[in-house]
Amino acid sequence: MALRKKDEISGTETTGHEWDGITELDTPMPRWWLWTYYACIAFALGYVIAYPAWPLVRGATPGLLGYSSRVELLKEVDTAHAAQSAQLDKVKALSLEDIRKDADLLQFAVAGGRAAFRINCSQCHGSGAAGGKGYPNLNDDDWLWGGTLDQIHTTVQHGVRYIADPETRQSPMPAFGADAILNPEQIDDVADYVLKLSGQASDPDAPLRGATVYAENCAACHGDAGEGKQEFGGPRLTDAITLYVSDKASIVAQINKPRQGVMPAWSSRLDEATIKQLAVYVHSLGGGEMPVP
Ligand code: HEC
Ligand code: HEC
Repeated sequence: MALRKKDEISGTETTGHEWDGITELDTPMPRWWLWTYYACIAFALGYVIAYPAWPLVRGATPGLLGYSSRVELLKEVDTAHAAQSAQLDKVKALSLEDIRKDADLLQFAVAGGRAAFRINCSQCHGSGAAGGKGYPNLNDDDWLWGGTLDQIHTTVQHGVRYIADPETRQSPMPAFGADAILNPEQIDDVADYVLKLSGQASDPDAPLRGATVYAENCAACHGDAGEGKQEFGGPRLTDAITLYVSDKASIVAQINKPRQGVMPAWSSRLDEATIKQLAVYVHSLGGGEMPVP
């Protein structure tokens, strides 16, 4: 066992180990490193005392500060809710028209309506409200039941042909074929007339005969010139926008046995503020109409 001694060249102590005359220096840790190390230990001790640290059977040691990330999160959520509920109260209190005029509130309502639409409506109307066969596009200017704020609100509240709601919008197009109201020739003729109304080529003589059938059986709901009637939810037949049909075979099928699409009533499932936000959102999509003064 050799002894620790001072190395002459570096002036540092040796460890005392020696191998064939070679000795090992015992260079001390740099000061700055040691202090950082001690500071880390002190910080860790303080942390363990102040914050939740040691896992126990239920939860962890609570720490002197009583901090909990869960509590912090709940606080943030509460603040967000409080900010929202002020806006929601305003939505409840104001008329649809007044909500539309208040730029901030309009933005809030459209955002809320968009979110509620994704959850409740997109499965039928599509996530962008563009609709699909049997489900109307809500982005365009073509409205079955009307496109003013109030009309949209009523549709969303009470639905269409939704029998559970006594105030639902009703308009059963008769099953002209299935119930033998018209004979097959009349149906064929009036289908040609409808084709002609929407600007499609059709048999040249049939529409003449079909015009009479139309005036007697269809004009009440679809308008004298096929312009549609919102009181009865009768679609306009003069344009290329269709709920179901555009070719002759499907027009005949519709006249024989109409589809009678059902739109659920939402007043029993969603609160009034949400329904108002939905109405404002749908109205904002681009096809919203202004009330007739
Ligand atoms: C189960 C499918 C379904 C769901 C879900 C649904 N709708 Fe509808 N919606 C329909 C159908 C079908 C019609 C067309 C009814 C008809 O033939 O007149 C319609 C019509 C409408 C209309 C009338 C359009 C017009 O041209 O007048 C509006 C507005 C509307 N829906 C909004 C909504 C909103 C908002 C929601 C969500 C809260 C929603 N819909 C959820 C099926 C649905
Ligand atoms: C009581 C009102 C009513 C009467 C009468 C009526 N319809 Fe309809 N029609 C509707 C409604 C409402 C719709 C919407 C779809 C549905 O409910 O099936 C519709 C839809 C249609 C469609 C499909 C439109 C589309 O956009 O896809 C055609 C075509 C049509 N009707 C033709 C006729 C013809 C032709 C007659 C007369 C023989 C007639 N309808 C009589 C109410 C009526």
